Amino acid sequence: MEKLPPITDPRLLVGANQADDAGVVQIRDDLALVQTVDFFTPIVDDPYTYGLISAANSLSDVYAMGGKPLSALNIVGFPKDLFPIEVLTAILQGGQDKCAEAATLIVGGHTISDDELKYGLAVTGLIHPKDVITNAGACPGDLLYLTKPIGTGTITTALKAGLGSAEMERRVCEVMARLNRDAAAVCNRIGVHACTDITGFGLMGHALELARASRVGLVFEFHRIPILPDALITVAQGAVPGGSRANRLFVAPDADYSSRLSEEQILLLCDAQTSGGLFIAAAENKQKAIESAFIDAGVEAVCIGWTVAEPVGRIAVR
Ligand code: CO
Ligand code: CO
Ligand code: CO
Repeated sequence: MEKLPPITDPRLLVGANQADDAGVVQIRDDLALVQTVDFFTPIVDDPYTYGLISAANSLSDVYAMGGKPLSALNIVGFPKDLFPIEVLTAILQGGQDKCAEAATLIVGGHTISDDELKYGLAVTGLIHPKDVITNAGACPGDLLYLTKPIGTGTITTALKAGLGSAEMERRVCEVMARLNRDAAAVCNRIGVHACTDITGFGLMGHALELARASRVGLVFEFHRIPILPDALITVAQGAVPGGSRANRLFVAPDADYSSRLSEEQILLLCDAQTSGGLFIAAAENKQKAIESAFIDAGVEAVCIGWTVAEPVGRIAVR
């Protein structure tokens, strides 16, 4: 949509030109809609688990804006010559169960015949216009939190190549299927400056979007960043999705990596995630409140760094 003229309308609180997680449209003084859509090809073999993960991923963009998901529509591309219909039923059951966990109603959807299996959801949420959390509100001196470990791209690539263990698969599926609801509830309750979720552009790509939108720089401490067990091993084995390599190149001009970091560690920072965690900028004086709220909510959030006034739009990783 970059090539199209921007849409300007007072009702459009967050639009496509803002590189944020979801669009936000005001419908009343005290109410706005949060809208997003996402779908992808299977990330794991088990169709039910694929449904759970795809739904958690689609719902996440509503949570990342501070919204509460209300309803959803299924989007399916199905190769009926390749799979029995039971596969589609299991995928949709996974999506429905995850939406039920999120108190989100699936109200319909659309299926087309396709060469490749695809599943996702278009999700609508509600929010008070004053409560919208964009990726543009971070201030210098904020603390940066990440609520899920990174490494789902390399781990799922390794599993597809037959390199993984059952334990690796179980763990990565649990992380990807986990809702960002509880992490978002902490943001709503404590009040944060900025938020986004970590998906296809990886930690570095989404963090860079936040840095640019907020006009700040970011500092990460590598040793604090939560990483899935085995993820550094699978990167070293060459299990690196094409998207992660593209992210590595995309962020390179704006990233300053410590010379102590290996190429494998840098690739992991750029690893394309599916249904990753929330990346949050919160005022330093909220540190105690937000960290105890994360613990109370059972959210494994980690402070991975902080924001700086300069240089704007750059990330330093120590
Ligand atoms: Co997002
Ligand atoms: Co998004
Ligand atoms: Co998205």
